[in-house]
Amino acid sequence: MGPEVAEFEKNFSDFLGGEVISVASGTDALRLSCLALNIGPGDEVLVPANTFIASILGICELGAQPVPVDVDPKTYLMDLTDADRRINSKTKGIIPVHLYGQTLDMDALMDFAQSHKLFLIEDACQAHGAEWNGKKAGTFAQAGCFSFFPSKNLGAFGDGGAIVVNDYDLAKKLRLLRNYGSTQKYIHEIPGTNSRLDSIQATILRIKLDFLEEWNNRRFRVACQYSEGLKGNVSITSPSFDPSLSKNHVFNLFVVQCEYRDQLQKFLTDRGIQTGIHYPIPIHLHKAFASWGYSEGTCPIAENLSKRILSLPMFPEITDKQINTVINAIKEFKIYE
Ligand SMILES: Cc1ncc(COP(=O)(O)O)c(C=O)c1O
Repeated sequence: MGPEVAEFEKNFSDFLGGEVISVASGTDALRLSCLALNIGPGDEVLVPANTFIASILGICELGAQPVPVDVDPKTYLMDLTDADRRINSKTKGIIPVHLYGQTLDMDALMDFAQSHKLFLIEDACQAHGAEWNGKKAGTFAQAGCFSFFPSKNLGAFGDGGAIVVNDYDLAKKLRLLRNYGSTQKYIHEIPGTNSRLDSIQATILRIKLDFLEEWNNRRFRVACQYSEGLKGNVSITSPSFDPSLSKNHVFNLFVVQCEYRDQLQKFLTDRGIQTGIHYPIPIHLHKAFASWGYSEGTCPIAENLSKRILSLPMFPEITDKQINTVINAIKEFKIYE
């Protein structure tokens, strides 16, 4: 909580447009936002079925019920038509995820949340610097949550997170919550927790923030190169994005689809190309949440995608030669013949 933390919070606030409260991780950013917005037992919260589990852990911890919503097969993002079908009198909020770095249609989302009187928390943990119509992801909702895990577009050298808000009272409450419910040593106004960003991480993040736009631009160019190189390849579906809207997607991940995903992954691994799967199990099918009683068929699109998706190497430092190596290896993959 030294001056380095305050300086990073100020710089990230200026960058995003909103007040930033740093915390210990993205998971904490989501958990404390849920806590500050008084989510509790009996409440239902809409969440996309295809996301990292941390998107829903705060909801669970507070005794509320995450309700999985299916995703759009092209963008992989939460489908609002399906969200509409899952609303009932217990639905209190919605936590959309700007998954893989791509912003959701925030006009539609804001309308949806307002018309159903839902609180809205954006999980922007994979979308630092992404924009929707010139406004940064994370700054539309009551609270926008970021992770600074090293693999993120803005990553620390360890864990870290932040919440961006535009409401003075909410900001004040979050500042209390992350620091034992206290602003003055040994005086505790509310029961809080210990969720602080280390000064050393804040310093690293402050320095790296100056490079974020340049790195995001590079990620976008890498995505364009992959898309171009894989065009016409019948075994691969590249992510659909508009190359003229370079700010809408900051490509934390470049996720393709392939019917023979597991074989393709092995084929690439054998050639020294590491890939990932984000994510192999939709949230409602995890053993941890078996008590919810959901089964296969709850979110068929997300379930189908989880068997097909593959994340190709994506990081700003990747060279053109490495990109071509990946593209050429995929072209050699011939299982469908
Ligand atoms: C979409 C999403 N939400 C939440 C998190 C949680 O962030 P953290 O790992 O910093 O707790 C992550 C990252 O790991 C994420 O990708």
